[in-house]
Amino acid sequence: MNVSSSFPYFSDASINAILVDMTQMLRSGKLTDGPFSQEFERQFAAYNNAKYAIAVNSGSAALDVALRPFKLQGKEVIVPTNTFVSTPNSVVFAGGNPIFADMNPHTLCIDTEDVKRRVTPKTAGVIVVHIAGLVCPQIRELEEFCKAQGLFLIEDSAHAHGATLDGQKAGTFGDVGCFSFYPTKVMTTCEGGMILTNDEELAAEARCLRSCGQNADRQMIMLGDNWRLSEPAAIVGLHQLEHLEEFLAKRNQIAAWYEKALGNIEEISLLKPPSNIRHSYYKYPLILATSINRQKVAVDLKETFGVESGHIYYPPCHLHPYYMETFGTRMGNLPTAERVLKQVLCLPMHYLITQQSVEYICDALVSTIKSVSSNV
Ligand SMILES: Cc1ncc(COP(=O)(O)O)c(C=O)c1O
Repeated sequence: MNVSSSFPYFSDASINAILVDMTQMLRSGKLTDGPFSQEFERQFAAYNNAKYAIAVNSGSAALDVALRPFKLQGKEVIVPTNTFVSTPNSVVFAGGNPIFADMNPHTLCIDTEDVKRRVTPKTAGVIVVHIAGLVCPQIRELEEFCKAQGLFLIEDSAHAHGATLDGQKAGTFGDVGCFSFYPTKVMTTCEGGMILTNDEELAAEARCLRSCGQNADRQMIMLGDNWRLSEPAAIVGLHQLEHLEEFLAKRNQIAAWYEKALGNIEEISLLKPPSNIRHSYYKYPLILATSINRQKVAVDLKETFGVESGHIYYPPCHLHPYYMETFGTRMGNLPTAERVLKQVLCLPMHYLITQQSVEYICDALVSTIKSVSSNV
């Protein structure tokens, strides 16, 4: 059996509905920044109970646009080291310095105590990442801390579409929420992203920034770029959003199957979300015992059993060559992230995974762990 680690899902009915809208859009002549993008923004804002949604052409663009209004020249922004490189990159692109914080080993999200330790007079704000789709359980504490210190809080919600804490959606706790619709994500537009905010001024600035800094009269009033979402992407997004609740229910079901199958394996620690959180399960990470070589497990799973697995994220950002060379970060700076992330393995997670495939994957994993352990 071959099992891919992620796969975007479109039912036949959804493909047909997309094709109908594509035909209408192509005949209309309005191929970008048109009625489908506006409808996608309206529906995404309503789904998340946010006032404003601004569609852009990637999750990286969402972060780029979200940071510009905060004028970061000479300032610092505290970011988790456990994230995709777009998070710290966006700080650099906006003229600021990313300051990496360590990780909470129980959630894989940013360590809020470490955030507090890293605040200096130069700190402008914090970016939190809801890693793998778990709303950072300390998000309210972080929100209060940032407010009290006069810092902005941006939620990189690239993994967390529809995830909630006490019923409140990821992306609506801080000043701005940023989403990615890359094909591996919980929902996709092929390439695309979205910004959520309740701040009218920020929303207006984001609209201007994403269109090369032009206002509604086409006058350029600030330095922006072309970060607009195309109409075909918006159409795909609308039809994915329609099924998002179904996708989330399936991902949670798959997670429950994994938990049942792997709950009692000595060499594996599972990450259980607190009961007030609905996880989006963008990924299903687990932690292997330190005696197990994760890379060997991943290779054996693929080569012997056809099961693709992943990590989230190794190396952590501060150990990428660019950051080490440009910002002088080193191994040893963030010991928890360095130690734990080496052992994190992500099992396949997407809509087409069945109970039977979960049994196959878990049997394969247990057997791989045994053979890797006996070959050390
Ligand atoms: C945490 C995080 N932030 C930002 C991004 C960037 O999104 P995109 O690939 O759509 O630019 C990603 C995407 O992989 C991500 O995982």
